[in-house]
Amino acid sequence: MSRLIPFRLPKDLGLGCATAATQIEGGSTDNSWYEWAAKKGKIKDGASPKRANQHWQLYEQDIQLMAQMGMEHYRLGIEWSRIEPAQGKFDDSVMEHYRTEIKLLLRNNIHPLITLHHFSNPMWFERMGAFENSSCIPIFLNYVTYVVEHLKDLCTDFVTINEPNVYATNGYMYGDWPPGKKSLFAAMRVMKNLSLCHVAAYREIHRIYGSKKAMVGFANHLRVFVPYTKNPIYAAEAKISEYLFQGAITKSMSTGKLAFPIGFSAPFGKGKYYDYIGINYYTRSAIKHFNSYSSPNCKTNDLGWDIYPEGLTMLCREQYKKYNAPIWVTENGTCDKADRFRAQYIYDHIKQIADNKLPVKRYYHWTFLDNFEWTEGESAPFGLVKCDFATQKRTVRKSGIFYSEMIKRKQVSEDMIARFLRAEDTTEKGTAP
Ligand code: BGC
Repeated sequence: MSRLIPFRLPKDLGLGCATAATQIEGGSTDNSWYEWAAKKGKIKDGASPKRANQHWQLYEQDIQLMAQMGMEHYRLGIEWSRIEPAQGKFDDSVMEHYRTEIKLLLRNNIHPLITLHHFSNPMWFERMGAFENSSCIPIFLNYVTYVVEHLKDLCTDFVTINEPNVYATNGYMYGDWPPGKKSLFAAMRVMKNLSLCHVAAYREIHRIYGSKKAMVGFANHLRVFVPYTKNPIYAAEAKISEYLFQGAITKSMSTGKLAFPIGFSAPFGKGKYYDYIGINYYTRSAIKHFNSYSSPNCKTNDLGWDIYPEGLTMLCREQYKKYNAPIWVTENGTCDKADRFRAQYIYDHIKQIADNKLPVKRYYHWTFLDNFEWTEGESAPFGLVKCDFATQKRTVRKSGIFYSEMIKRKQVSEDMIARFLRAEDTTEKGTAP
């Protein structure tokens, strides 16, 4: 455990939380994840996003709770399959639902950041080959135009695409996610098309906003890569893995110039296609034989992921140096079923931002409440708020209360350390909303 010292939060650091539509809304069945979950053995506990958190119905209660917790920012997703159930046919009533939800956030002084794509596709799009098919660009753009035109009076901030590298590698290289392909070439094609979709969407959103300010970027999954031991071969492998997993895609998405091996050209012109640097940071990868392991003797979370707060500083510094824009930590969080170390995780990561004076302007904790965690189903709780999926009862975890106090008091005080971090037994003692 790191030394526990009180600290003040930077005055200009906005704090909040993030979710994704498919992971919380429930009900929607016409998307790639619903189909995937219906196949035997794809989701560890057999759960389906059809249930999730029923947030589509319970959004008022959830926003109420966010407001009570003092959230200043909320990153929320739009479910493409609901908005455009058939190609080119948009459902205005769905859009109206999102507008109502966003208005409620605004009334509660919670600033929305809209994610346009977060891992899930409408089935009609999936059947066409989704982002492997180069015709995806005008199709995605059409959806983006519709959504942004309908939100431009309410929102200013957008994430075009969430974690293009995770989407491409899990779905097209490792085959663990829809559509279950195992081809490095397919993964590269997908990264290329996602880069172009992002650039096109960035330009389109700014076209729609004209002289009005909009903040557009993508949520980039970044890890720290290290060799498993001091072996120089592993060191070389770590460098190559880092470049293939995140270096090339970051450059392609940010500059519009496709980087080898994703591509060579700049089909939409070279430029600067981000207004903030969006970083989703969770963990470190120790590389041996091009496989990723947890580092020897490192603390890990319930999924075996290294807990390595210093990595946030390393990545923020590196990205800021390369891309020079305000940083928004668009996701950071951990899987901790018993809520034993989540408060400490939050403390350690936000302390990195404060102590090292990182140019981070927003921090979105992943996640607001336990959700449908992709292939882990309902069994990997990342929530500040616990969800009993059968009853849909929400309970704020002790770490959630800690985070809430941190936001409200803009500091971690000695008494907070005593109550939340030093207490021997920090397991599950939340409160009902
Ligand atoms: C994703 C989230 C996911 C989280 C935890 C991120 O990679 O954007 O959708 O729930 O990690 O696994």
